[in-house]
Order: sequence, then C-alpha cells, then structure tokens
Amino acid sequence: MGGGKWVGAVTADSGPLTPEAVAAHSTAKWIGAQMHCLDAVDSTNTRVRELGLNGAPDGTVVFAEEQSSGRGRLGRTWVSPRGRNVYASILLRSDLPADQLSQISLTAGLAACEAVGQWCDARLKWPNDVLVGGRKVVGILAELESRSTERFVVLGIGVNVNLQLSDLPPDLRDKAGSIAIAMGELISRSEVAGTLLSRIEARYDELRGVGFGRIAEEWGRRAEFVGKQIRVAEPGGIVEGEVVGLASDGALCLKRKDGQKHKVLAGDVTVLDGY
Ligand code: BTN
Repeated sequence: MGGGKWVGAVTADSGPLTPEAVAAHSTAKWIGAQMHCLDAVDSTNTRVRELGLNGAPDGTVVFAEEQSSGRGRLGRTWVSPRGRNVYASILLRSDLPADQLSQISLTAGLAACEAVGQWCDARLKWPNDVLVGGRKVVGILAELESRSTERFVVLGIGVNVNLQLSDLPPDLRDKAGSIAIAMGELISRSEVAGTLLSRIEARYDELRGVGFGRIAEEWGRRAEFVGKQIRVAEPGGIVEGEVVGLASDGALCLKRKDGQKHKVLAGDVTVLDGY
C-alpha cells in the first residue's frame, strides 16, 4: 500500500499532538505528568537528555511532529516524516543498575507491542522491534546518561502510525510498515500516544516492583520467531540456531544445530525460514 488516497485526508485529530489530547487517552500517573509536544526537533532523545540534565522530573515526556535527525539503533537513522507518526522520548531516572538497560528496552518493547496490539496483531522481534505483518512498526532506542552527576535513561520510541510507504526510502519499503497500512485507514495519533504511555508505565512499574520474570514470559509469548531458525550477526561473529525464548537477563536463547545452547546479548537478527 502507500497509495495517494490518504494524502490530505482528515481525521478527528489530524492536527498536532497536544498534551491534553494525549492525556485524554492515557491512564499513566507519573509518565507524562510533564509532557512537551514540540513541533520540529532534531531528535526527541536529544531534547529529553537536555531536560534531564536541567533537572526535569522522572517521567517527563517529549513528543515531536517531526525529527530532522531521528536516531535509530546501531547508528541508523529513524525516518521521521512530519505529522504521520509518534516520536516520543521518556526520561527515566532509573534506579536499576546500568547492566539492566536491556531489560528496560525489552520491557518498553513489550509495552509498545501491547499498545499497537489495541489496533492490530503485533509481534516482537528481538531485541525490541514491534512487527505487524512482518513489517517493523515500532523501534526503541534507550540511551543511558551517566557521564555527568545526573544519571538517567532516555527511552526513545518511534511508532509508525499513519506512515505511508511513499514516506520511506526505497530500501525500507519492503521492511517497514505502519498501523494504518495494516488497518487500511488513518489512526488517531493521540490515542496511540496515550495508550503507549499507559502501557509503558504499567510495565515499567512492574519491572521496578517485582522484576523482569513475568515480563520475560509475556515477551516470549508475543515473540515472532520462537521455534524458527535465525542467524545473528553478533559482535564476535555469526551464530545460527532455533529461537527458544528470552532468558531472565533479557538475552535471546538459541539452540544451535549441534544441540548447544547459546545466549545472544547483542546483534542483528535475520530469520532463515520464510522471512
Ligand atoms: C531503532 O533503530 O529501531 C530505534 C528507533 C528509535 C526511534 C525513536 S523516534 C523517538 C526517539 N528519538 C530518536 O531520535 N529516536 C527515538
């Protein structure tokens, strides 16, 4: 899809995101209690880092209509066309140890998957992409700030809501998607944004309160590739194996052809059968 039928189309809230409209769809209490809906920014993660360094409270959220330098994982760019999607960053003054940063991103991935799941069938791809119909609809970039006296996590989330394929560079048109592409209609961005904050607060409170155990189980239930053969480009080389699930530390567990178990801590995943 990506046809011109949506261009210029109007929905109930097709204007800019506002704190009032987002809050109307959110049950979150402390995430988004301070909310900034900005117009054009370089990156919402950069803005939240600045706010964090200037003493902004835990749970401060920045949304933007567009990003000129949206950042993705592994130094990639996050395509951020104006007014189409949700670009959000959340300040988490985390009391979790730095080595649990991956648990925060995995938890956010589950929360985002649950949020998108309100509209369509969404699955998780390790480490923290959300796929709809095999296409990436959500990306998460958690950045730790610990160089200064301040110590916090900036949790950046991009949700492709009303993105059309024509918004994407040609090399991404068979990989990325949006909720609207899956549904065949435009979706309320403020509803998606509010639902996202609600789910992130609920799951993050759970992580801090009782730990990662149940989150890892639920993550495994929503994982796209359990039982499938994958190839992972790890920093130390290529590993292939069948996906078994998620370990309690957030690593992806594989069973290699020789029967050995292998834990993947970082890397890019390619599915060998089918995708
Ligand atoms: C990925 O590569 O999958 C992560 C993409 C993260 C994109 C979001 S959009 C809001 C926030 N601001 C950024 O610059 N990046 C994150």
